[in-house]
Amino acid sequence: MKASAPGKIILFGEHAVVYNRPALAVPVAQVHADVEVVTSPRQGIWINAPGIDLHADLAALPADHPIGSVIHGLFHLLKLSPPPSLEINISSTIPVASGLGSGAAVSVALARALALYLQRPMSDEQLNALAYEIEKLHHGTPSGIDNTVITYARPVFFIKGRPIETFKVGMPFTIVIGDTGIPAPTKESVGDVRRLWTEDKDKFEKIFDDIKQISLSARRAIQDGVPGQLGSLMDQNHELLQRLTVSSPELDNLVVAARNAGASGAKMSGGGRGGNMIALVEKEKAETVAQALISARAVRTIVTDIV
Ligand code: PMV
Repeated sequence: MKASAPGKIILFGEHAVVYNRPALAVPVAQVHADVEVVTSPRQGIWINAPGIDLHADLAALPADHPIGSVIHGLFHLLKLSPPPSLEINISSTIPVASGLGSGAAVSVALARALALYLQRPMSDEQLNALAYEIEKLHHGTPSGIDNTVITYARPVFFIKGRPIETFKVGMPFTIVIGDTGIPAPTKESVGDVRRLWTEDKDKFEKIFDDIKQISLSARRAIQDGVPGQLGSLMDQNHELLQRLTVSSPELDNLVVAARNAGASGAKMSGGGRGGNMIALVEKEKAETVAQALISARAVRTIVTDIV
C-alpha cells in the first residue's frame, strides 16, 4: 500500500500565528514524502528510511522517535495490535530542517499508507490530529499549520484552535523558493520571539496585528484572482519579520537578489534565521530569478505554481 504527502511553504503570517493571528500556507507538490507498506517475510515491523540512514526494527527505536511514534500512535488510535510482520519503506524529496514540512509530510504519508494497508482508512481530521502530536515531538509548541496544510494538501487559512479553512486560488501564480542551506531551528526563533514579546508586549502585539492585516489582504487577493497584489504584501511582511529579529543576513541577501532579478516581492518563509525564502514572480521570469538566487549563494531553488 502506498501513500504520499506534499511539502509546504508558509506564504504569510509565520510567528504571528503562534500568537493567534492568521497565517496562509500552501502545499508544494514538487517535493513529497512517499511511504510504502508491504507484508514482510521476516518477523517484526522493519523500517527503511535510507534518506535519514534509518534501517531498524520498530522495537529498537527510542520511545519518542517521530517515526516510531506515528506507528504506535496509529495502532493506538485504531485500537489494533501491531501485525506480526511488516516492511515500511520511507523516502522523501523534501529537504529536511528547512521549513518545507518534511517531518509532517513523513508523518502524514506514513499514517495514511499504514491505515490503508490495515484496511482502516482514516479521515483527514484524524490524520491531522495524529500528525500534530508528532509535530510536538519535533518542535515543542507548534501552531499546527504544517501538519494541517500537508494533510489537506490545499491552501489553508490557519488560526490556531479554529476549525480548518481551506481556500480557493482565483488565478494561479508562481513562487520561487530559495534555500539558504542554513539549518533553521524553529524552536529557537520561536523561543527568542517569545522572550522579546515578554519584555515589550505592546510593541510586539502591534507587529503581530500588522502581520494579521497583511494575511487578511493576501487571502482576499489570492481568492479574488489578483495575485499581483501579493508582491508588496510579501515585502511588507518581510520587513515586519525583520523587526521580530527572525530574518538573517543570508535570508535578506536572497530576498534582495530576487527583487533585483525582477521578482514582484519576496520574504523569508517559516521559522527564519535560515531555511527558505520565497519570491513572487511572473511565470516567464521564474528561471531568471531562480538563477539569480543560486548566484547569491542559495543552495537550492524550487519553482512552484500555486493553483
Ligand atoms: O519553520 P516552519 O516552516 O516549520 O514554520 C514555523 C512557523 C512558525 O510560525 C514560526 C511556528 C509555528 O509553529 O507556526
